[in-house]
Order: sequence, then C-alpha cells, then structure tokens
Amino acid sequence: MVQQFCKDYVYLDYNATAPLHPAVHEVMIDLLSETGNPSSIHKLGRRSRYLVTQARHGIGQYIDADPEYIIFTAGGSEANNLALQGVNWEHIIMSPLEHDSIYKAPLSAELLAVDDQGLIHLSDLEAKLQAARDKKTLVSVIWANNETGVIQPMEEIVSIAHKYGAYVHADAVQMMGKKEFSFSKSMLDMMTVSAHKFGGPQGVGALVAKESIPLTALIRGGGQEKNRRAGTENVAAIGGFAAALAHTPSLEHLYPWHQEMEEDIQAFAGHEAYVFSQKSPRLPNTTCLVMPYIPNATQVMNFDLEGFAISAGSACSSGRVQVSRVLKSIVQDDLKAISAIRISSGWKTTHQDLIHFAETWKKLYQRHASSQKGLL
Ligand SMILES: Cc1ncc(COP(=O)(O)O)c(C=O)c1O
Repeated sequence: MVQQFCKDYVYLDYNATAPLHPAVHEVMIDLLSETGNPSSIHKLGRRSRYLVTQARHGIGQYIDADPEYIIFTAGGSEANNLALQGVNWEHIIMSPLEHDSIYKAPLSAELLAVDDQGLIHLSDLEAKLQAARDKKTLVSVIWANNETGVIQPMEEIVSIAHKYGAYVHADAVQMMGKKEFSFSKSMLDMMTVSAHKFGGPQGVGALVAKESIPLTALIRGGGQEKNRRAGTENVAAIGGFAAALAHTPSLEHLYPWHQEMEEDIQAFAGHEAYVFSQKSPRLPNTTCLVMPYIPNATQVMNFDLEGFAISAGSACSSGRVQVSRVLKSIVQDDLKAISAIRISSGWKTTHQDLIHFAETWKKLYQRHASSQKGLL
C-alpha cells in the first residue's frame, strides 16, 4: 500500500525512522501470532520467555554487552529518561548536542563547550569533572548526533570521566546499525539503543546498564526486566529488534556516496553550501547541508514536491519546525541553522538516489538563489 503510494518517492529521512526491513517484517508477523505472556508459567508463557531471551542474547552479542545488562523499553526516549532519572544523580554533565529526551530529562545539568565542528571540548569536560569530583556525577553524551552525524570520541570521554569517579551514559540510538561499536570495549556504564533507525520496528529500545548502577524503575508495578522496568514485554517488537540487527546490511558503502554528493553540490554552489561538521568523524549516512537564505521548512516542502523525503534538522513531534538548538550551538549562527536540512540514507538507498538528490538540490538552489536572496 505505502510502496504503491510512494512509488517514485525517494526516502532520505532514516535518522527520523527507517523503513522496516522485509526480513524483520516476516519475523514479526510470525511473532504476532504467539500467545503467551513471558511471565506466565505455562508452556505458552515459557515459549514467549524463550523468545525474549533469544532476542536479548542476540542484541547483547551485537553490542558486545552482557545480555543481563539489557533493559527493554518502549524506545530510545524512555531509555534515556531511565538513565537520567532512574538514579539520584547529584550532578549531571551533558552536551548541548543531546536529543531532547536527554536534554529535557533532568531539572538541571551543566552543558559542555563544543567546537565549530560539533565535537565536545574534552578539556572542558575534565575541568567540569574536577569541580564536581565530590558528587555522584553522570556524564551523558550523544555518541552519534542525529542532526549532523558527528561521532564523539566515546572511549576518551569515558576514560576522563572514570578518572574522576563519574559514570558515563551514551545515547547510541543513531550508532546502532550504522557504525560498529562495543559496549564492553568503550567501558561505558550505560548506553541507550533503539530499533527503528536502521530497519527495526518503532516503539522498542533498551537501556544497557551495568548491574552496579543503582537504577530505580520509572515504570513500576511488575517485576519484569529485573524490577527495572515494569510491563509485559512486547515480544514481537523485541524479536523484530534482534532480527533487524541480524538482517540489515552494513551501511559503510553510503559514506563515499554522501561525500560525492557533498562535493558535487559544493562544486556548484561554492562555500555557501555549508556542510555541518564536514571535518569531523561522521556516520556514513548523514549530511547536514545549508542552502543559503532559504528556510529549511521551505526546502523540505520543495523537496517533497520533487519526490524526496528529507528533514529540517531534527524531526519535530508537533510538526512545527524550530531553529535547531544543536546546530546553533555548533555555529552560533541563526541563519545557517535555519537554512540547514538533513539528508539521511539507509539500507534501501541507492547511489542513484543520492546523485538524483544532488541534481535536484542544484535545480532548487538556482531557482531560489536568484529570486529569493534576502528572504531570511
Ligand atoms: C539520538 C537520539 N536519541 C534518542 C532518540 C529517541 O528514540 P526513540 O524514537 O526510539 O524514542 C532519537 C530519535 O529521534 C535520537 O535520534
């Protein structure tokens, strides 16, 4: 149905959500006909418990973490809230680059300085940790940014934080399925993942937390997930999450296609076609690109009419587009932040899709640049 409706439409909004992979769809359809509650003692309950355990082990293996650390949640937002609110932290340090589910979770937090390439200042982190060394402190940093794709040096962040006795949580929602990473090697204390950014279902994710973290459940009432998250497990979604990790391909091949697209556009429009964090390590699938003078909402509508789904920075749940706090913190420039769009690709994207996108970008740029300069 959707495929028919969107036949010639190119989807480049994977960082908002990715199309469900057909292999995952198949697995989930089977799982939806399972009956048992994983907490029931009878045969059908035991079978559901087995399916959840299998998925837990598959996900644990993929992220290189003890499966017992995994607490299934209804997505990344819930897991982020659990990490920040589930412990009585005396002090929280985060970056201004965080997703709202981190940024808005605590009542107060200290913000780290970031450079013009979207990387956090490690010296600032060290200074802030030194000042807070007597407190039970959490450092929470987004591992790969949803708007720019910038990947933070997580191992270095953890090693600095641990020197001062602080705990570290990484929001790895955008890393999952896009870039290899290891929970164990990074030495993290907690990490958030979600299924729907690379080919799994929406509404399921997990907080990965070492047993030494004194977490109190936010959702209470049942003993599920070792008393850390009450509620009957969503067996089909959890199974779909594990299946997505097993079935979606590596996305490294997207990196040169994005590079080519950026170079092509910049060769045409010059330095005005600013790419956010172009010099930083980035996800293979993400480009955050400025079309000067044109508000990103206008661009999103124009690309939609041309047959492309892209987004204006982060997807806004209210449908309202605002100036991105994340982009502003990187460039301190409202004009750039207002006219930046995000192109994010994934398992279904072809090389031709990105070539075609670059051609369309140039066409719209030419049309608008002559007629609407000074619009902003
Ligand atoms: C970096 C990041 N963290 C957390 C989330 C929230 O995840 P979910 O949509 O599974 O609640 C998102 C989704 O946009 C995200 O991009």
